[in-house]
Amino acid sequence: MTYTRTIAALATCALILTACQPASDPGVPDAAAPVSTGVLSAGDALLLASARIALPPEGFDAASLPDPTSTGATLLVRYCGQCHAVPTPSMHSATDWPRILRRMWLRMDWLPDSLQVALPEVGDRNMLSRYLMENALRVSAEELPPGSGRETFVTLCSQCHSTPDPFLHSGQDWVSVFQRMELNMERMGVRRPSRAETEAVLSYLQDLPPRAP
Ligand code: HEC
Ligand code: HEC
Repeated sequence: MTYTRTIAALATCALILTACQPASDPGVPDAAAPVSTGVLSAGDALLLASARIALPPEGFDAASLPDPTSTGATLLVRYCGQCHAVPTPSMHSATDWPRILRRMWLRMDWLPDSLQVALPEVGDRNMLSRYLMENALRVSAEELPPGSGRETFVTLCSQCHSTPDPFLHSGQDWVSVFQRMELNMERMGVRRPSRAETEAVLSYLQDLPPRAP
């Protein structure tokens, strides 16, 4: 009978498929396996490459976090460094953190248990988000002061986070912050500024008019 033969054929197919599969659960990606585009589908490779742009950069040590022994800093290191480098609170403004955190909770909550990602309790989530908000990047409350270089400052310095408050640092200190941002751009896969852009931004930040009272 055709029907029986079909069933038999299907059973053979199932057997062959089972035999071909690796011993571990095939549905779950192996987080410990080295990432190689050779084993990823073209779509997954593209997704991974795009997700890696502007990830929290490597190289910050926990001791240099604000208030490093606080519960907030401890929770940040414990939970937020599991998939990428530990992000620093000043990487985003207090307006932007809630939206990013929502995305992170979603990614953490719905991963398969077998990947063993540690999930914070509600109380810890609140403490973590309070720590990020309290130490967030300060943005300008008023309109940015005029000056040549203002547009370049906004374009260049709002790529990864909101435009920072131009009065946050002294003209002198902006030079070293700028150099650190160049390093961040390199580590986060974002184009480094040209010489003309560097000069425009630094002269804007160094020649600001006094802050309005
Ligand atoms: C389960 C893995 C995972 C954990 C745990 C995780 N993240 Fe992420 N994170 C990602 C992925 C994937 C991306 C890249 C895609 C994206 O931006 O959503 C990312 C990107 C980011 C970015 C860069 C995106 C941006 O807009 O600047 C920040 C900042 C960040 N995570 C913060 C955090 C914080 C804070 C925590 C802890 C509460 C955390 N992450 C925990 C997976 C994770
Ligand atoms: C490639 C992404 C990226 C770009 C582009 C970028 N930043 Fe940042 N910025 C970061 C990250 C990551 C942090 C948190 C880590 C740190 O402080 O280096 C940060 C933090 C900051 C802070 C808070 C820390 C502090 O020292 O006060 C300021 C201010 C800042 N950026 C200014 C700038 C300016 C000015 C520019 C434009 C020249 C800029 N950023 C462009 C990634 C970026």
